[in-house]
Amino acid sequence: MNIAVFASGRGSNFQAILNAIDAGLLPARIAVLISNKSDAGAFEIARARNIPTSHLSLKLFASEEKFAEAMLHVLSEHQTEFIALAGYLKRIPVQVVLQYHNRMANIHPALLPAFGGAGMYGHYVHEAVLASGVKVSGATVHVVNEEFDRGPIIMQKTVDINPEDTPDSLAAKVLTVEHEIFPLALKAFAEGRVRFEGKKAWIIS
Ligand code: GRF
Repeated sequence: MNIAVFASGRGSNFQAILNAIDAGLLPARIAVLISNKSDAGAFEIARARNIPTSHLSLKLFASEEKFAEAMLHVLSEHQTEFIALAGYLKRIPVQVVLQYHNRMANIHPALLPAFGGAGMYGHYVHEAVLASGVKVSGATVHVVNEEFDRGPIIMQKTVDINPEDTPDSLAAKVLTVEHEIFPLALKAFAEGRVRFEGKKAWIIS
């Protein structure tokens, strides 16, 4: 399965996906790495492996339509079959969401539908989780649809919260399970084992 990865930051989830491919766990290849930030660490990871990269930022385009058009062009010229949002902090244009219906997944560092939506990214998520007093957090892989962070959930894994946890210590625990479940969820897509029933999705064995 040809995967386009979108990343805005250091790219540790992108690296986890590459590790799963190298280990023979994930039957896929990375067709292109797309980022909105020209200095994203994910670009270094891609360049080191001769993976094509593309810097796409709305700021570089006259309109959202032109931006979406350019994004769709990059995706199609690399024969993209699936999009993985690996720490991508911008909204995907609706034209792209529609074109890749049920073929785009995001990793979120909390147990959606809780602690999701606008502003819930990076340390803000973990601060909100700790402030709420919940005893578990975790990571969620979900399909991206028109509603931010509300698409069908594919896979989740929890981590325990203890009284000494800080946003940083919680982020580290959650990142560990992100790196476990994102490749496994992508593997299920690559192997055609994801079933959709209305707003729900299930992985079949
Ligand atoms: C991760 O915590 C992910 O859940 C969130 O952004 C972060 C990306 O980290 N969407 P990385 O760039 O994959 O290391």
